[in-house]
Amino acid sequence: MQSKLPSHPQRYTGVGIHPRRFDHVNFLVDEPQGEQEFWSDQLGVRHNYFITGDVGNGEQRLASWLAKTNLSHEIAFMRNRDQTGSLLHHVAYYVDTADQMVRAATILADADVKIEWGPAQHGTSGAIFLYCIEPSGNRIEVWSGGFLLFAPDWEPIRWDPTVSPLGLELWGSDMPDTYLRYGTTLGAPSTAPQPA
Ligand SMILES: [Fe+2]
Repeated sequence: MQSKLPSHPQRYTGVGIHPRRFDHVNFLVDEPQGEQEFWSDQLGVRHNYFITGDVGNGEQRLASWLAKTNLSHEIAFMRNRDQTGSLLHHVAYYVDTADQMVRAATILADADVKIEWGPAQHGTSGAIFLYCIEPSGNRIEVWSGGFLLFAPDWEPIRWDPTVSPLGLELWGSDMPDTYLRYGTTLGAPSTAPQPA
């Protein structure tokens, strides 16, 4: 099958990115510190690392990453820059190697799938990543690597404003403007009445 990419001898004919496993989910929220405290204090999910920054009224929490297992995180909360409530930011699937990340990017490009950001590297976890948008508009992350955590007495690591940009991306690419704004609703508007 001919590729739309002129210098490629044929379209990549392998079947899909075939990630090894699911890795994590990430939400945009208006107030990530309160969200993290709920998940840690009420559910007992360990707080592994966080980013702080100044958004106009002093330094405050911009994002937190949490897990119950050895993963760097299973769930994350990032500050919704537009303060429009909770949105699904992305779900992430894990591939084994950097080679497979490059292969994933080529498969997506060849299939006309929008790559929003990456491949690049998160400084916080050390994972390499790319983000793309699937047909319903949800953001998908392809992820590889990332530290594993075994210390029973782990304390959350703070990334302050002097290094926090490197936490999100280590290699120097610019964060897309959509990254801290765009997400998808979870089936009901955030203004809907909550169950009594
Ligand atoms: Fe992620």
